[in-house]
Amino acid sequence: MKKVFSGIRPTGDIHIGNYLGAINQWVQLQEENDCIFSIVDWHAITTPYNESTLQDTILEVASIYLACGVDPKKCILFTQSDVKQHTELTWLLGSITPLGELQRMTQFKDKSKKHKEYINAGLINYPILMASDILLYDAELVPVGKDQTQHVELTRNIAQKFNNKYGETFILPESLISKEGATIYSLQEPDKKMSKTGDPKGCIGIFDSPEDIKKKVMSAQTDSENEIRFDLTKKKGISNLLNIYSLFSKKSIKDIEKEFEGKGYGDFKKSLTELLIDKLKIIQENRMEKEDIKKILEKGKKLAEARAEQKMKVVRKRMGLAL
Ligand code: AMP
Ligand code: TRP
Repeated sequence: MKKVFSGIRPTGDIHIGNYLGAINQWVQLQEENDCIFSIVDWHAITTPYNESTLQDTILEVASIYLACGVDPKKCILFTQSDVKQHTELTWLLGSITPLGELQRMTQFKDKSKKHKEYINAGLINYPILMASDILLYDAELVPVGKDQTQHVELTRNIAQKFNNKYGETFILPESLISKEGATIYSLQEPDKKMSKTGDPKGCIGIFDSPEDIKKKVMSAQTDSENEIRFDLTKKKGISNLLNIYSLFSKKSIKDIEKEFEGKGYGDFKKSLTELLIDKLKIIQENRMEKEDIKKILEKGKKLAEARAEQKMKVVRKRMGLAL
């Protein structure tokens, strides 16, 4: 049994990339591990967001976690900003994190290019907040998409630095990447990852209607070969669709290639559309009432807070601060 922590930013619609790259793995992990999952709203405010809908988005994201099978009886589910110890630890760890390390983070570079008018100190400090999320709970494993491994590496460096300076305090975490699901690409721009902020036609949301799913899959970018074959260098579009098909159907890519031998992209896309509509319908039917979700988060807050405060007492002591 290992301690596991992961988080997702409440920024609009959750898509099948999040599901296949992250949530799906959490659902499996909670069976045999001590898991804590968080809706990381303090991370969300480092890029432009809508303050009047943030609370609704948090509940929406929680409802997706729960509908996808995250089970509050088997793990702790809470909202990051409900546990103030995360910001306290961020400040403390900030005092030992070299600025240069933060400046070389790929996500910081990407996001500051994308939001030129919004390059704020929060964006550069983002990885310290993430490190705090992880280190507060002594997490050993951090299930994330490939894009987040750099941040987990930095978390290890910060933990190591703290331990060297103030004595053994933090566990050095490892990231856990689910192999096949590692990256799901946009259906429209298959060399970019599927994202809430990319082309909306390339991104399938967990709560998309059957009509939307159909439109998006049928218009997905492919190539002119009309052969259903996995080849990430020459056939990115169709390979991405094959990957999605394989993950949702639990069939191997080889078996799917065989099944569609001699058939065209149209047939394959129709089949994928039906599969996605079926699978997402099951998730959509599991949607809970808002009031019930609030109760689950309230309970999660109490459990997470107790653990976080226990850890902070040690950290404050080591750093010579008042308990
Ligand atoms: P984000 O949507 O960027 O907050 O990411 C939430 C989680 O989903 C993280 O673990 C990401 O690495 C993962 N994720 C986001 N987009 C994708 C994608 N296109 N494919 C696979 N995993 C993803
Ligand atoms: N930075 C992560 C992302 O963009 C989200 C996140 C915040 C996270 N804190 C975390 C993931 C702690 C894992 C552990 O996807």
